[in-house]
Amino acid sequence: MLIDTTRDYVTGECRSARNAFSPAFFEEHLSVVVGYARQLGQTLGGDLEIIELAGWLHDLSAIQDFAVLPRHPAASAEIARRMLLKEGYPADRIERVATCIASHSAPVQVGNGSIEQVCVSNADAMSQIVKPAYWFYYVFNVRQFAFADGRDWLRQRVENNWTALIPQARAIIEKPYLQVGECLKL
Ligand SMILES: [Fe+2]
Repeated sequence: MLIDTTRDYVTGECRSARNAFSPAFFEEHLSVVVGYARQLGQTLGGDLEIIELAGWLHDLSAIQDFAVLPRHPAASAEIARRMLLKEGYPADRIERVATCIASHSAPVQVGNGSIEQVCVSNADAMSQIVKPAYWFYYVFNVRQFAFADGRDWLRQRVENNWTALIPQARAIIEKPYLQVGECLKL
């Protein structure tokens, strides 16, 4: 099944030495995004196959080459188009997946995009709030920020993400948000 082969491919890419995010990125980020995106998709009535494919593939370009990070939404959408085309996936559905990936880096509000875009982009922001251990590792180890810069990056990331989430997403992660906020002294 396409979702399984896509997830397995991404698992392999996460384990590769060229993945600067570390192999933990699969469990600590991608799996979390897919889980929340599916949950939101069930609540809002989105297409779960589109959502899940976009969830697994949304960061793939940066996993394969960290230098691509600043333009990874568009680059990952391009990779997804090529991969799904090769699998014989219908062209209109490929575009729906690619659109989700291209718009994932800030929470899309209901009415400003497809339901699938809303789900994937909000889930990406949620994952950065509920997995603080990974994001501490990311900011201090992967990005090598100095202490105060890294602390401020984390505070800002958590706060900006929370502020931008749709109400349904906030309701799911309210408790972890309050806990993380206390730890970071938001
Ligand atoms: Fe992501």
